[in-house]
Amino acid sequence: YTFNFTEHPYCHLIDTIKDCAIKFFNPEKLNDARYDKLPLSIRVLLESAIRTCDGFYTKEEDVQSILTGSSSRAKPRCPSLQRDGIPAMVDLAAMRDAVAKLGVDPCLVNPKCPTDLIVDHSLQIDFSKCAIQNAPNPGGGQFAAAPARLSPLKLPTSAQSSLSLDTPSSPGRPPASVQQIENTPLLCPFHLKPVSEPETALKNQEMELNRNKERLQFFKWCSKAFKNVNVVPPDVGAVHQVNLEYLSRVVQLSDDFIYPDSVVGTDSHTTMINGLGILGWGVGGIETEAVMLGQPVSLTLPRVVGCKLVGSINPLATSIDIVLGITKHLRQAGIEGKFVEFFGPGVCQLSVPDRTTIANMCPEYNATVSFFPVDHVTIKHFTKTNFTPEKLELLESYLKAVKLFRAYDDSSQDPEYSEVIEINLSSMVPYVSGPKRPQDRVVVSNMKEDFQRSLDEKVGLRSFHISKEKQQTRVPFTHCGQEYSLCHGSVVIAAVISCTNNCNPSVMLTAGLLAKKAVEAGLVVKPYIRTSLAPGSGMVTHYLSTSGVLPYFNQLGFEVIGYGCATCVGNTAPLPEAAVDAIKQGDLVACGVLSGNRHFEGRLCDCVRANYLASPPLVVAYAIAGTVGIDFEKSVTSEGKEVYLRDVWPSREEVQQTEEDSVITSVFKELSGRMKKGNAFWNQIECSDSALFPWDHKSTYIRSPSFFSKMMSQPPSIEDAHVLLFLGDNVTTDHISPAGSISRTSAPPSICRANGQLTPRDFNSYGARRGNDAVMTRGTFASMKLHNRLVGKNGPKTVHIPSGQTMDVFEAAERYQRDGVPLIILAGKDYGSGNSRDWGVRAVIAESFEKLHRRQLLGMGIVPLQFESGENAESLELSGKERFTIELPEDLCPNQPFTVKTSQGKSFHVTALFEDETDIICFKHGGLLRFVARTLL
Ligand SMILES: *[C@@H]1O[C@H](CO)[C@@H](O)[C@H](O)[C@H]1NC(C)=O
Ligand SMILES: *[C@@H]1O[C@H](CO)[C@@H](O)[C@H](O)[C@H]1NC(C)=O
Ligand SMILES: *[C@@H]1O[C@H](CO)[C@@H](O)[C@H](O)[C@H]1NC(C)=O
Repeated sequence: YTFNFTEHPYCHLIDTIKDCAIKFFNPEKLNDARYDKLPLSIRVLLESAIRTCDGFYTKEEDVQSILTGSSSRAKPRCPSLQRDGIPAMVDLAAMRDAVAKLGVDPCLVNPKCPTDLIVDHSLQIDFSKCAIQNAPNPGGGQFAAAPARLSPLKLPTSAQSSLSLDTPSSPGRPPASVQQIENTPLLCPFHLKPVSEPETALKNQEMELNRNKERLQFFKWCSKAFKNVNVVPPDVGAVHQVNLEYLSRVVQLSDDFIYPDSVVGTDSHTTMINGLGILGWGVGGIETEAVMLGQPVSLTLPRVVGCKLVGSINPLATSIDIVLGITKHLRQAGIEGKFVEFFGPGVCQLSVPDRTTIANMCPEYNATVSFFPVDHVTIKHFTKTNFTPEKLELLESYLKAVKLFRAYDDSSQDPEYSEVIEINLSSMVPYVSGPKRPQDRVVVSNMKEDFQRSLDEKVGLRSFHISKEKQQTRVPFTHCGQEYSLCHGSVVIAAVISCTNNCNPSVMLTAGLLAKKAVEAGLVVKPYIRTSLAPGSGMVTHYLSTSGVLPYFNQLGFEVIGYGCATCVGNTAPLPEAAVDAIKQGDLVACGVLSGNRHFEGRLCDCVRANYLASPPLVVAYAIAGTVGIDFEKSVTSEGKEVYLRDVWPSREEVQQTEEDSVITSVFKELSGRMKKGNAFWNQIECSDSALFPWDHKSTYIRSPSFFSKMMSQPPSIEDAHVLLFLGDNVTTDHISPAGSISRTSAPPSICRANGQLTPRDFNSYGARRGNDAVMTRGTFASMKLHNRLVGKNGPKTVHIPSGQTMDVFEAAERYQRDGVPLIILAGKDYGSGNSRDWGVRAVIAESFEKLHRRQLLGMGIVPLQFESGENAESLELSGKERFTIELPEDLCPNQPFTVKTSQGKSFHVTALFEDETDIICFKHGGLLRFVARTLL
């Protein structure tokens, strides 16, 4: 930021720290009592509005309206964190060409804010294709993830990102190792890089990199040519927690000016970053591009729900219990579209990985963000990363100066929220599930009684019916020369499986630390119990080993038997025969305890009638106890030893410390190393140092968009437009811009093929070819699911009305354009537009628009028009075959009504959904890109 400080409307708020070396805007100097009452997330928006107040995009009244908390709009200007920014970067490169042609220095075109491009994502689509040999082209796009156990260990940068970032709303199935617990998909932010890398995986990677070479070349050029662009090369990792820390600044320091970091990203899981005290959320591609071009993000000032955490966490509850518990509360609270901000003394008990997991679950409960203001826990966490002590000190003193630092246990700092949800953390008690079905939950503290009940009651879904006298049966047997005995409730199988839990290392570490303390206290697991340890990946073994707990697992008999669930449950070694005989002889209800829930319904073993799912540490605990008929509160864990479970259970602090020391640190170190080293393939890629991108006209991946070839403004009115498409309700981006694989017959491949001989295998997917404007344009509306009423059946077709011929939508658009006929689209409710750039489509008339897409349309210079309430194409008896004329006056104003006239003599009213003057100016210039280019000129 280069300020003309004397002319800035808020120059009186400038303050300094570090002996005047660092400047910042201090809203405290507004001397406005309302500031101290604002939620911290809103304080971030306020600072941003103050800093970027330029009288055009952001005005002084915006600052005032944030202070009053009125429902006016906030306009944070955010740096952006992008997952796949190819279209935006291609546009910027094209803009360089455009301004250079007009005699302006192309080097002036740069993103206006720090931009991180993470290349990995682009490789994702191909990954599963290679993981499963000869699998068909995965139509599900990026989320067609292979089951985790098939993942080659190298590219999982992509596979794991889909593992960690998948949600039920994403296309494709959730990956196999992420499980639904209580119908809550577990989203794990924790991305861990496996240690070993099988050779085949390396080969796959090389192949993928070769296929994506053109894009990589382009990215590499971007990293050299543009200021403010940081490219994360392939094979370093996707946006997940560890990378978030790498990419996060918490505060931005530009020269001697400091301000809070904020982020928009092209991924709905951008919300994860709020766990680190950085305000951020996902937006559409065009909107991210707008931010990169210096426009603020506008949003209706959200209501902020304070989520107050009180009480102390049940010692036996794991992070996953807590995270799912909080998510469940939030889901029930109905907080759609609001900000959630955490406060209250309980927040300190959540580690940063816990916080990011909760923040990552935002799409689950529909909050825009779940914000965790920075506190001492956040700072401590960053000490394990690449933040130097000096930087952390600066960060802390700045955040304290502007009151963006929280001491959660000081309630005098609590802001005023529009609504408060209180969650008592002690209400989140640990459960196990069983004994017959995974959906039957038993509170651990009731386990003893519950098991007793299952013996007493007549045979049912949760019971076995054993008569009172038979309940006393105890059968002695000999194993390895020792006398043992079995009874109802005896544990004979105990399997620690990390597939459900490997995303949050704290859970496996809790189990490991419990094993360590148990061994140190002299506790043992009876040798006839089939114990096993199946870490979800090599990385789990790696951190169990670096944290020093692995030998203790082994001492208790939990030895690593392999990776993945199939191995651990299907292939456990058989029980000792003597034990099996004893079970049969006494007709005993013997138990298996395991920490996964796959294969639950298939029995572990014929002779095991009761199966319980439990967290990994509880599996260890029940193995030591040797029975499920135990109340850990009241009984010693192991016969003959005066040791209670609470004596050997590791504290949360202990677990968090181990996690910080042995997991975060080592993963971060590895990541930084890889970041520095780069990837051999990436390092080898040659690219030019030129200010203008050397477009390769043969490239089928990266092409200069034709966007800037026409720089004129839109004519004011739309006359005699034809209907290109006549659509119903709920048309989604999936219909409009399919990201899946390119089919062999749809138009784009012929384009690809025309440029060289590409085999279908090389078609790749639309997602991977986003850098090719021609492919994306032709891919628009190329969905087999598209239902166009002009045609009457599903498919990517339309009727060219003047000729009456049915043809590809793209072909029709081209033909209309040649003839100079403007186009409109008719649609129903919730129209969610895609990238219908340069099709000659001037307007979309719909019953309602998806919020983000309204803006995207304007960004493309297309006017979103809404039918009057209660009216639609049917009620107006439109056939789609008439021609439409819409008079747009010179002086547009927000939410203006217009009259639409048809060639059939009908006329009806619509509202143009311009929210403010910026929308109008942008529209008048024919879209955002042209507007920005012209501003530069
Ligand atoms: C939380 O719940 C526990 C157990 O029900 C109770 O003892 C405690 O007082 C509660 N804490 C608060 C702050 O309400
Ligand atoms: C979240 O929003 C979606 C779509 O608006 C809706 O279907 C879903 O029920 C909402 N979920 C919750 C928990 O409010
Ligand atoms: C569109 O979606 C809404 C809400 O999800 C649903 O109620 C409606 O039936 C859908 N309409 C059509 C035509 O599918």
